[in-house]
Amino acid sequence: MEGLKVPNHVAVIMDGNGRWAKAKGLPRKMGHVQGGKNVEELLYVCDDLGIKYFTVYAFSTENWKRSEDEVSALMTLLRSYLSSGFKKAAKNNVRIRIIGDKSGLAGDIQDLIRDLEEDSKDNTGLQFQIAINYGSRDEITRMMREVGKKIKNGEVDPEDITEDFISDNLDTKGIPDPDLLIRTSGELRLSNFLLWQLAYTEFYVTSTHWPDFDKDELIKAIEAYNKRDRRYGNAK
Ligand code: FPP
Repeated sequence: MEGLKVPNHVAVIMDGNGRWAKAKGLPRKMGHVQGGKNVEELLYVCDDLGIKYFTVYAFSTENWKRSEDEVSALMTLLRSYLSSGFKKAAKNNVRIRIIGDKSGLAGDIQDLIRDLEEDSKDNTGLQFQIAINYGSRDEITRMMREVGKKIKNGEVDPEDITEDFISDNLDTKGIPDPDLLIRTSGELRLSNFLLWQLAYTEFYVTSTHWPDFDKDELIKAIEAYNKRDRRYGNAK
């Protein structure tokens, strides 16, 4: 790690829980259980490495189409982490924010989220974002509706709409754009994740399944990131 430039914000598409479980002859749910454990472990790894912002895609707006059994297992897992594992992280100075449409989640999950966000809002350690019921197109659609209302009632002039204005009206308000996006399990897709925010982000895809993506794998991703010549659209 010595001499490596650590990205300020790492975002992850945590794919491959199902394939990890299948390869071990376990039910899909067990892949998610192991995936959840890995999220908790990596929180502390990110903090140790000096990463400031860490964002994970836990449940997409499309994930509701999975079987009732799997959706329910994922919601049970999220409930458990929001009420215990992430609460512990909040006590360790981690700030937790949820991005996505919270109004589409069960009432008790919304309450857990509200408490966790409120309790951790002054924490200055790792800034941890969890995308739940998140889809980038949905986020942009919700934002447009809100801005449309403000234009209609005279609160916003269309001339005020700049790129910064748009960033400030997304769920990720106040969070810098990711420097590095990691996708585990090999697919080369964005899957409706942070479309606006990833405009200049470096991508790293590995065939490793999410439950096996540990500290060494994260360091490998950071090493690959260090070899990139980052450009912001400017000719060099
Ligand atoms: C993708 O694997 C993963 C998900 C859809 C869910 C991610 C959820 C977790 C890691 C656990 C809970 C999260 C937190 C924050 C505690 P997949 O099922 O699509 O895998 P496959 O493509 O191999 O089938």
